Amino acid sequence: MENLFVVDKGRPACPIYLLTKQGLKDWLEDHAGKQAAWVETNHFKARRGEMLILPDKSGGIEAVLLGQGASQGASESASGRSEIDIFTIGSLSKALPSGVYRLAHDLDAEDMELAAHAWMIGTYHFDKYLPQKPDFEAPQLVLPKDCRLDRIMALGEAVFLARDLINTPAADMGPVELEMAALKLAEKFDAEIDVIAGDALVEANYPLIHAVGRAAYDAPRLIDIRWGNPEGKKLVLVGKGVCFDSGGLNLKPGAYMDLMKKDMGGAANILGLAGAVMQCGLDVNLRVLIGAVENAIGPEAFRPGDILPSRQGMTVEIGNTDAEGRLVLADMLTEAESEQPDLIIDMATLTGAARTALGPEVAPFFVRQDNVAHDLEAAVQAENDPMWRLPLWAGYDDWLSSRIADVRNISSGPHAGAITAALFLSRFVDRKTDWIHCDIYAWNPKSSPGRPVGGEAQGMRALFRMLEQRYGR
Ligand code: BES
Ligand code: ZN
Ligand code: ZN
Repeated sequence: MENLFVVDKGRPACPIYLLTKQGLKDWLEDHAGKQAAWVETNHFKARRGEMLILPDKSGGIEAVLLGQGASQGASESASGRSEIDIFTIGSLSKALPSGVYRLAHDLDAEDMELAAHAWMIGTYHFDKYLPQKPDFEAPQLVLPKDCRLDRIMALGEAVFLARDLINTPAADMGPVELEMAALKLAEKFDAEIDVIAGDALVEANYPLIHAVGRAAYDAPRLIDIRWGNPEGKKLVLVGKGVCFDSGGLNLKPGAYMDLMKKDMGGAANILGLAGAVMQCGLDVNLRVLIGAVENAIGPEAFRPGDILPSRQGMTVEIGNTDAEGRLVLADMLTEAESEQPDLIIDMATLTGAARTALGPEVAPFFVRQDNVAHDLEAAVQAENDPMWRLPLWAGYDDWLSSRIADVRNISSGPHAGAITAALFLSRFVDRKTDWIHCDIYAWNPKSSPGRPVGGEAQGMRALFRMLEQRYGR
């Protein structure tokens, strides 16, 4: 993978031009003759993502054009930079023949790093189950000396890890295998890891994690990783690792169950993010909690109507066994909270309602503190990693009331499902604790540059940037 990039030493490399429709006109004026004719012949129109290879005299490649679509008009900056979507570069690293390429534009270091990230994650392919691996030698991109190659590699590897974990079918990525993946990550960074599995969860007072996972063949487990500076600020990362969500006794209909191998997408994203934190050596006292369970049906399955104790002490009335993620998270948030941490981040494929609200590409996040929200929003902008704040709207809190328990795991009404799920979680976190809850989709339903259909990292770069700024190196 290191071979994806070469540090600029002035050696020749094939230029890549990122061209808007207006930019193409200017380019044609500068490259009149044979090259312009080739553009004409191939009807290249600089549509967003459209690629054209310009051949040289000896059958090699002289240049590559990558379309950026129509100009945005008045909002355009003087340089025209604002209309370039750097992420489109992600389509090149899989499409171009092997060779050494460079961007023909002077991008600032941050944009260049984003381009490199897109280039890297564009090479991703999930071929574990293909008997014949595609024969693919990735092209190389020249990076200026001031690019932080270690950061680029750390974030790219974080995305690959998350995608691989999500894409692996539930039969091969159950709670046991998710534990193995966590173990591998912990070993790589010399982190401590502790796992509480099966009935030991009851003894250790994680009743909700146990209840959700106890009907499955693989015993439920809490994976607990510690790393970093014991004197540093405490960061707790919490991931929903439901390795398959059948819905439990409130069984999902087939079409809703289809993708549920991805219900450990929160855990996959958290492990990726934790890997980046460790790889880049952020100055923090890190704890990672993953609730790895399968929401299955069996004689031991928890039921609608059950009233379960929680680690925190509150009793929870089960209105629907398909609202299982929030139960697993609740016990972990209680444990996270007990550390009096500087920050808790949880990631979870928690609700279908989050998709109804924002679609698969924009992940909602919830946070009580406005200053934390602003920090994350700034990171979202800078990293071009879409997330959007939704409110922890107190007015809906009593929708979770139960007549016979402290709280119910589903809302009494049909509205605002992502908010009511977040409000459920909020009951387990102190008002004063800085806590970010991310309700991610973790899946690309269609492919776009750098983002093939399948498991996806969402919000990971934005969160990482925020952590870098909060904790530094
Ligand atoms: N894992 C699902 C949520 C989900 C579904 C995420 C589809 C992404 C795509 C979660 O466990 C669930 O089933 N939630 C229910 C909650 C409901 C029963 C209150 C949902 O969203 O329908
Ligand atoms: Zn569910
Ligand atoms: Zn689920």
